[in-house]
Amino acid sequence: MSEAQVVAGQARSVPLRRALPHLVRDPLGALVHFGNQAGGEVVRLNLGTFRPYLVTHPEHLQQILRDRTNYIRDPESMLWRGVRRVVGDAVLVTEGELWESSRDTLQPLFTAKRAEMLIDRMAVAIAEAVDALDEPARAGQAVDAITLMSRVVCQATTRVLFGKKIPVPDALQIYAHLDTITRTMVSRLLAPGLPYWIPLPGDRAFRNAVAGIDSLVLPIIRKERADPGDGDDIIATLCRPRADGFQASEEQIRSDVVAMFSTANETTIGVLSWLWPVLETHPEVASRLYAEIDEVVGHGPVQRTHIPELRYTRMVLDEMLRLWPAGWTIPRTAVGEQVLGGVRIEAGATILVSPYATQRMEAFWDRPEVFDPERFAPDRPKRRYRYSYFPFGGGPHQCIGQYLFLLEAPIIMATLLSRFRFRLGQPADLKPRLGASLRPRPNTVTLLPRERASVS
Ligand code: HEM
Repeated sequence: MSEAQVVAGQARSVPLRRALPHLVRDPLGALVHFGNQAGGEVVRLNLGTFRPYLVTHPEHLQQILRDRTNYIRDPESMLWRGVRRVVGDAVLVTEGELWESSRDTLQPLFTAKRAEMLIDRMAVAIAEAVDALDEPARAGQAVDAITLMSRVVCQATTRVLFGKKIPVPDALQIYAHLDTITRTMVSRLLAPGLPYWIPLPGDRAFRNAVAGIDSLVLPIIRKERADPGDGDDIIATLCRPRADGFQASEEQIRSDVVAMFSTANETTIGVLSWLWPVLETHPEVASRLYAEIDEVVGHGPVQRTHIPELRYTRMVLDEMLRLWPAGWTIPRTAVGEQVLGGVRIEAGATILVSPYATQRMEAFWDRPEVFDPERFAPDRPKRRYRYSYFPFGGGPHQCIGQYLFLLEAPIIMATLLSRFRFRLGQPADLKPRLGASLRPRPNTVTLLPRERASVS
């Protein structure tokens, strides 16, 4: 008998004795498993006092993500509380007027056209960040794989988003604080119902890290607010009074700055960290990728004109976003009573939308667990459902940074691989670790200068 019981007139429900142990043991695998078991139907996960609906069918996802009236991103929901303790009422988590105001201010910085304009700035910032890897590579030094990717991404992203307002050493420190926050937040994420007055391990480190970020970010914001310049970076844009005279408060600006910094870095690092384990376990993908980059970029540097030529690079990236979408869950709350896929959902219910689950489901993908960039070949027929692949969400809250990411990430991949080959310290593991985004298990990487690697 299936483990989901049919309850008349209501969603199928996965009973507590099955849902809880599976989710505790392997939360990501459990979401895919429950989605597959339900064959895309809406299913309810009974976790005791918390009983969210898991929605995985692309048609239902489309209905939810495009409808900001009936399905909201509820900042008060238990799942968002931890994030809000870091980023307050930032554009990333809010709804309503606060969200509209921040989104209106930031949106013009993130159009496809503007991302295009930033390509040269990005390429230079990335080349500079990658230059710093020459020395450890020449010394044959093994480096923690995430740290290596974080340095490159953090330096490049900070330059692109914040100009020179946040100096690189400060950016690396902010990133280190955010890393502490991400690690210490996991215990709260796993116990979303627990009140904050009950201390959990990591709470103090979390608070210190938030204070550490503020001590670096607030002086920059105060200086900019006192004398707003006409720069095109995020801080200048947020600090300038808008055309209608509205000026955001210091607290609001701080929230948006920290949210933009953290999300841009965390997501980009999260996705690109899969590059090494993927190439290690898929030599045929690696040779094709190296061949493309050798042919298009040679020894570099990456130029604007190379980007449309890096087709296979983009296919590899799209497939990494399918299997390890950094935004692995996009929770929503039903405002009133809703009917979705023939199932009644009560007002206030939490709805789990998960790109990770849907993008790995048998009903929507052939051999979903296999890494195969060919799925994204430009001549492939169009996918049946728009929302079977939605790493950047959809509807009004669709990711503001996607155009930037989709240009920045191939430049990083091509810059790194035009200069280096690599060796991992331990066998590659493709099973993700759950955190704010999805990261590979810890490993070390030794970069090998490309010439030396091809001779040996
Ligand atoms: C791999 C890279 C990225 C992934 C997978 C990703 C994923 C997502 C997803 C799924 C959402 C939807 C959230 C929701 O509907 O509740 C989102 C929203 C958002 N993302 Fe990204 N993101 C990425 C990169 C970035 C970057 C580079 C930036 C900034 C430069 C960014 C800024 C934002 C912001 C501000 C929102 C909130 C938009 C709104 O609610 O109006 N993201 N992202």
